[in-house]
Amino acid sequence: MNVLVTAGPTREPIDPVRFVSNRSTGKMGFAVAQAAAEAGHAVTLIAGPVTLDTPPGVRRVDVTTALEMLAAVERELPACDVFVSAAAVADWRPETCSPTKLKKGEMDGVLRLVRNPDILKTILPRKGTRVFVGFAAETGEPTAEAGRKLHEKGLDLIVANDVTAPGAGFAVETNRVTLLFPDGRHEALPLLRKTEVARRLVATFATLGR
Ligand code: C5P
Repeated sequence: MNVLVTAGPTREPIDPVRFVSNRSTGKMGFAVAQAAAEAGHAVTLIAGPVTLDTPPGVRRVDVTTALEMLAAVERELPACDVFVSAAAVADWRPETCSPTKLKKGEMDGVLRLVRNPDILKTILPRKGTRVFVGFAAETGEPTAEAGRKLHEKGLDLIVANDVTAPGAGFAVETNRVTLLFPDGRHEALPLLRKTEVARRLVATFATLGR
């Protein structure tokens, strides 16, 4: 199958030296891309700004902002059978980006932010027979909120995790996730290395595909 994966944060510029972003390191998405390639799938990885090496055999497209990530996903979507949206897309971007470095005094007061588009919701009308997999990083009991997102974003599978739980979340090698399906079925996995979570996820979405 052709597998498209997004990974990492997006970075939303305020001026040439400052930005709004989040703590995503891209580890989980890169692990999914690697596991999918190792399973014999053709993988395209759309990566936000991260410091990770491209997994062997994976075609990588680098982007910076949420709008660039959306454009890349729209371009790559027609060729894919499975889309795994593991990126931590910034929900907001500065309304304007100053072409010159803002002075401290000019930063006083409110930084005006506007909402970024939701990539999954934007492409949902073009889903067709593709399998869509999302992630839900929550703080606290993740499954209720993840179930809501699964339906709202038209997903076939959502990977929920509590990013504040020990051994889970950003910048660690392990994760403890629950897989949720549209029929209400869910599967809680034990604390595993992200590479192993990725392998299980690839095995699971392969059974959902054509
Ligand atoms: O941020 P949120 O919890 O809504 O993310 C859930 C899923 O939606 C993730 O798979 C994420 O990649 C995706 N998402 C997106 N576009 C956004 C925000 C999140 O596709 N602007």
